[in-house]
Amino acid sequence: MKQEIRFGIIGTGMMGREFAAALSRWLELLDVDHTPRIAGVAGTNPAGVEWFRSNLPGLRYAVSDYRELLDKADIDAIYCATPHHLHAEMYTAIIQSGKHLLGEKPFGMDLEANRRILAALQANPQVFARCTSQFTYFPGAQLLTRFLQEGRFGRIIEVQAGFLHSSDLDPRKPINWKRQVQFCGEYGCMGDLGMHILHIPLRYGLVPARVHALLSKIIPQRPDRNGNLLPCDTWDNAVLACEVDGAAGTFPMLLSFKRIEPGEVNTWYLRITGTQFSAEFSTKQPRTLRSMSYESGKPQAWEQRDLGSASAYPTISGANFEFGAGDAFLQMCAAFCDELVHGKDMRQPFGCVTPEETRLQHELFTAALHSQREQIVARL
Ligand SMILES: NC(=O)c1ccc[n+]([C@@H]2O[C@H](COP(=O)([O-])OP(=O)(O)OC[C@H]3O[C@@H](n4cnc5c(N)ncnc54)[C@H](O)[C@@H]3O)[C@@H](O)[C@H]2O)c1
Repeated sequence: MKQEIRFGIIGTGMMGREFAAALSRWLELLDVDHTPRIAGVAGTNPAGVEWFRSNLPGLRYAVSDYRELLDKADIDAIYCATPHHLHAEMYTAIIQSGKHLLGEKPFGMDLEANRRILAALQANPQVFARCTSQFTYFPGAQLLTRFLQEGRFGRIIEVQAGFLHSSDLDPRKPINWKRQVQFCGEYGCMGDLGMHILHIPLRYGLVPARVHALLSKIIPQRPDRNGNLLPCDTWDNAVLACEVDGAAGTFPMLLSFKRIEPGEVNTWYLRITGTQFSAEFSTKQPRTLRSMSYESGKPQAWEQRDLGSASAYPTISGANFEFGAGDAFLQMCAAFCDELVHGKDMRQPFGCVTPEETRLQHELFTAALHSQREQIVARL
């Protein structure tokens, strides 16, 4: 008999529905011994709540006040996907209620909010909490984690990572909460895109010690739904030139989080070069891993491998098919549930972002804002 994990979802927007859609494909996963079910949903948008009601006939609770879900004894865990200014209040309430938490990034709007969430976790050690980051479950990204785990790179020469979008290039794109500091936070694009690319570096100890931030506001106003222009006051693009003090020496880590990189649609990439081995993966070519081994005196030749969909959790589709964004999200949910049920004995070693990793992310972005304000290289 598979162990059932009864989820409540808070937030019925894009990601709340993405989570529900991922869970509806659970049968795709082979040999997992747990089954998540959506028991309840909470949202302030009636149309969003109605979407859940009409698509999930077994839904027990559909409420507007999220606190009602936290009182339910037959809910084990919460997936929370709400605007960033609500994270501190909601995540701490979830943790204090004893429910496990898969919280959307950036896990608090700013460092202070993140500290409140982490303090609640410290006071409730029985709660299992993780933050989202799904692109790291693409097969190519998973191979990079394995190479880091095995120490294949030798002395690291440089790390480049980025997450690039372009739809904000259109000045007529309507404003939303993600483009307003009061809801998204001062980090802007960093808080929105950053955790996705920091997950792997932070997991393997590639933690910046210093950062020089180059932040840009490119489109200062955007129309609301009625065509009135409102201030668009978040950072559109961020380029962080970081230095990591690695065991074998200091190396640069160049991070790009951009809402406006012309032509790019959801491009996530990670490139690590080293004295013995180099490798790179980008969702632009989702099946392809490029790598190069090097031995003194031997030729330098990059090789290219087709990976198919050999995923962390094997699937019915098998390795000879394509892998996409929905598959990555499903794999991330599997990792969360696996670790919730099995702890350190989870089936594969790469778990979701830990609260400690969200703290490191917040320290980096807080230092980046300081660097930009003072026009200095900021220390973490
Ligand atoms: N993992 C990813 O790839 C990814 C992608 C986009 C967004 N996100 C993250 O997901 C979170 C939500 O983003 P989104 O794109 O789903 O936003 P969204 O605007 O589509 O949805 C947010 C939802 O929160 C609801 N909400 C607002 N106040 C609420 C309250 N008091 N109680 C209950 N619900 C409330 C809104 O009604 C809306 O339905 C953010 O943290 C964002 O950074 C993650």
